Amino acid sequence: GLAKVKASLLVVGLANSGKTSIVNTLKADRTEDVAPTVGFAVEKFSVLKTKLTVMDMSGQQRYQPLWECYYQDVQGVIFVADAADKHSLATASDVLWGLLGNADLAASPLLIYANKMDLAHAVPASDIAVLMDLASITDRPWQIAPSSAATGEGVESGITWLLEQIR
Ligand code: GTP
Ligand code: MG
Repeated sequence: GLAKVKASLLVVGLANSGKTSIVNTLKADRTEDVAPTVGFAVEKFSVLKTKLTVMDMSGQQRYQPLWECYYQDVQGVIFVADAADKHSLATASDVLWGLLGNADLAASPLLIYANKMDLAHAVPASDIAVLMDLASITDRPWQIAPSSAATGEGVESGITWLLEQIR
């Protein structure tokens, strides 16, 4: 269960997928204006009685090499995919599978948010799971959660699952 009182999480995914917006939703920060993250941002706040340190990484290609600097320090990984940008999903899958190959992350449970579900043309989470071949992830707990940082829907149930995996 939620026995652990502290956890460090890494939030990654392509640029514009909604990572910072999801972190803001988790912080119950209603700020509507969100700017592209430069490098990364460290956020500390509590969710479900767990004190979180969240590394909100930039998804821009030039900053992606920074991600691995934190692989050793985190107990869980959040990968955000933009379900409303169908054409980004193949690249997102490549980036995700690159990350899965890193030994420093091998023990970390993985939550994938299929984000921007409030948009009418969003690809269903089950289709994204197939597209990203998530069924082939057999070496760690994983889950895909449909979410909308815009409405808040799905964000809390996703993180609840992730924190349950961390003990
Ligand atoms: P980088 O920091 O550049 O890697 O981007 P990011 O993944 O942090 O994305 P960010 O949170 O900055 O959001 C990018 C854009 O998508 C912003 O205009 C957000 O308002 C919008 N956005 C984020 N989440 C959602 C969502 O669930 N639904 C909708 N409709 N828009 C969203
Ligand atoms: Mg950001």
